[in-house]
Amino acid sequence: MFSKRIACIGAGYVGGPTMAVIAMKCPQYKVNVVDISEARIRAWQTENLPIYEPGLLDVVKAARGRNLFFSIDIRAAIRESEIIFVSVNTPTKTFGEGAGKAADLQYWEKVAREILHESTSAKIVIEKSTLPVKTAQTMENILNANGKKVPFEVISNPEFLAEGTAVKDLLEPDRVLIGSRETPTGLKARQEVVDIYANWVPLERILTSNVWSAELSKLVANAFLAQRISSINSISALCEKTDASVLEVSRAVGMDSRIGSRFLNASVGFGGSCFKKDILNLVYICEYYGLEEPARYWESVLRMNEYQESRFVRKMIREMFNTIVGKRIALFGFAFKADTSDTRESPAIYIARKLMEEKACVAITDPKALENARIDLAGCEENLDLVEDPYEAARGAHGIAVMTEWALYRSLDWEKIYKSMEKPAFLFDGRNLLDHERLFEIGFNVYPLGKSPLKHF
Ligand code: NAD
Ligand code: UGA
Repeated sequence: MFSKRIACIGAGYVGGPTMAVIAMKCPQYKVNVVDISEARIRAWQTENLPIYEPGLLDVVKAARGRNLFFSIDIRAAIRESEIIFVSVNTPTKTFGEGAGKAADLQYWEKVAREILHESTSAKIVIEKSTLPVKTAQTMENILNANGKKVPFEVISNPEFLAEGTAVKDLLEPDRVLIGSRETPTGLKARQEVVDIYANWVPLERILTSNVWSAELSKLVANAFLAQRISSINSISALCEKTDASVLEVSRAVGMDSRIGSRFLNASVGFGGSCFKKDILNLVYICEYYGLEEPARYWESVLRMNEYQESRFVRKMIREMFNTIVGKRIALFGFAFKADTSDTRESPAIYIARKLMEEKACVAITDPKALENARIDLAGCEENLDLVEDPYEAARGAHGIAVMTEWALYRSLDWEKIYKSMEKPAFLFDGRNLLDHERLFEIGFNVYPLGKSPLKHF
């Protein structure tokens, strides 16, 4: 009774929300989301989804049990589907050749072999994970090494959603990119994938290309976004030396329509599971092809990010009289950005560890990410206090550092917080989130990013 059967291998941040939206928008398709993690699959079947995304539960509930199913039976899902999205993790390799840079494709290859093993009918295999350019070739080599003569077409359909806005990004994408071989069978498979998205995405936003361009565009899009942040962060350091305000500079620069205003917010550094890994991957690929200068160019985006994180923590220590031994310091936010519980590569992890190395007692508050903070900082419990309530986190603290731009921090009772702290009270705003003048009036010594500090001494 379903017109297409779609499987998605990998039920993570990308696989889960993407398939939920496809299922909601296309009741005529059956969508099976499978994963090796039983715990994750079980959570997808409850009200307590394994990831937090605004609006996601409603989307899942609209389709779950109707045409959206979560299961650990990967083989059955492969067998019954004509279209298979692969959305497994592709982290940076930690061992052997290319360690610290190249993508670790072991999960990817395992899935390719599983697809080959289980398939008895034609399949369109879609790269949803972010992969090095030319991975489709490897996928094809594995899939075509079959004596069974089952036809496979490999399509690249990278995902551009951002965490915290995943549902909106999926419902109203800037563009959907679908790359294929430009052979008759490749083009036919490409059209099948276009047809899925055309159920809700206007055709002018569905972009098609050759398979290599699609693979590479994903790495390049992330590299460009991260580059903008590193660019403005480099300027934030200069603003602090020259009494310029990075907020005013980014507004002035961003109003040039050729430059654009988005992704120009100076911060304590970019985090998230992908920017760093994808740039490392881009650097590795450039090196692989002997392109030293392009490799060094993109590597500098990451160096600037590390500089921004370490500069922030050095400033905290310096301003708090060059010692923070035994001082309570509250980190407001631990997620790598607002509206997510995800803490992967969050600058807060680095900052917390550095503060603990200096023997501070670090109190962390976050509305969604405390469970992950506990995991990230396992082994540091002695100097760590994880608290739901920001007022509790700040009580008795010498300093507060804003790590994540949660809107709720803006509407806190900052006078009450000030009163409960040790004096002088320091506030380091790693996101330029708060009203600095007002905090200064209350009594705080305030250190915005890329702006002169407001100090009482
Ligand atoms: P994730 O770690 O949240 O999810 C990956 C899932 O794959 C896990 O649940 C894991 O158990 C499962 N898995 C691994 N090997 C498997 C196997 N052999 N069989 C079945 N399941 C298996 O990762 P993610 O954040 O969803 O990212 C997935 C891919 O999408 C990555 O390549 C990433 O770069 C890319 N991406 C991520 C985002 C994002 O916002 N997180 C956005 C765009 C693209
Ligand atoms: C990013 C991209 O925006 C997505 O298009 C892409 O699909 C995804 O990576 C991926 O491939 O995983 P995400 O990491 O979820 O999405 O979040 P972003 O909104 O891009 O933020 C990344 C980091 O940059 C966060 O730490 C954020 O706080 C920081 N940031 C962002 C800044 O410091 N300044 C800005 O102006 C914007």
